[in-house]
Amino acid sequence: VRILIADALPPSSISAIEAGGSTCELRPELRGDALAAALPGVEVLVVRSTTVDGPTIAAADRLQLVVRAGSGTNTIDTGAATDRGIAVCNVPGRNATAVAELTFALMLSLDRNVPDAVADLRAGRWDKARYSKARGLHGRDLGVVGLGATGMAVAARAHAFGMQVHAIGRADRDAQVLASAESCEVRFVADLAELAQRCDILSFHVPLTPDTRGLISRELLARCRDGAWIINTSRGELVDDDALIEAMDTRGLRAGLDVFNGEPQGGTGTFDSALARHPNVYGTHHIGASTEQAQQAVADEVVRIIGAFADGHLLHCVNDVAHPATDTDTDTERDDRRRSR
Ligand code: 3PG
Repeated sequence: VRILIADALPPSSISAIEAGGSTCELRPELRGDALAAALPGVEVLVVRSTTVDGPTIAAADRLQLVVRAGSGTNTIDTGAATDRGIAVCNVPGRNATAVAELTFALMLSLDRNVPDAVADLRAGRWDKARYSKARGLHGRDLGVVGLGATGMAVAARAHAFGMQVHAIGRADRDAQVLASAESCEVRFVADLAELAQRCDILSFHVPLTPDTRGLISRELLARCRDGAWIINTSRGELVDDDALIEAMDTRGLRAGLDVFNGEPQGGTGTFDSALARHPNVYGTHHIGASTEQAQQAVADEVVRIIGAFADGHLLHCVNDVAHPATDTDTDTERDDRRRSR
């Protein structure tokens, strides 16, 4: 199989793929037109953050599989891929722990104002009086929006912190999700509006779809308690920036955000966002999945996906293409995959 890898992948993973008889070309710098120009002859394309749009897919002549080395597939035009019979597979769940850990980094930062405290110390200011003001996380009500692998990892950690976790009840939750939720003593509510009313903190763990775009809206924020916190480590497009800024200015809401509308695609660049600059926001640079552990776990699963493909099977396929599929996913993975379609 001829494979083009248009993002970084560990050398050990490339060796493992080539040991299976495939040839890999590592071109992490490819973007846009250059990516399209490199696609003729390629059968499998592996990407992480790199966008694979319709024109790029149209430039391919032998492409059969796009592997997204992460969970979200919003950077890939899956519709264009489906039209050409090209499978799109993601790697669900493997970076869930890393994202859950960053979720807690943001929550704990908001509670203890760690970023400001560090900045003051670096500027030679001692202010124990200011930084002694914190409510603590224990006993607080956390609403987890999305109970896939990441949401559940957040729920488990929140339970360990003594928080009360709430989530939205859904008739189609499978037994494994319900069992995990029960072990974290998750309380189910009717809908997102009720979740917002009940909780001190809302944390979002949903893929970007037409249903979730703009989910953190003026209407939803109006339901939140004064001083509530919004944590978003999923996709920036969930947020109505103006509405969140208004809620922070007028009702003391605060936010921990790892993702932003219009964030740069590459690793470095300039970024001008009124939301990211707002004093009530502690922001990070879309690094939720970027621990060494998570990147290795994702790369291992990419190797497994390509091995299965070489054997005629698809793992974690998110679009409807006429390929044989071996479905070895767990229920949680299947749930994540369904919701990312
Ligand atoms: C994901 O979709 O898995 C995460 O958002 C990670 O995205 P990244 O690979 O672009 O960091």
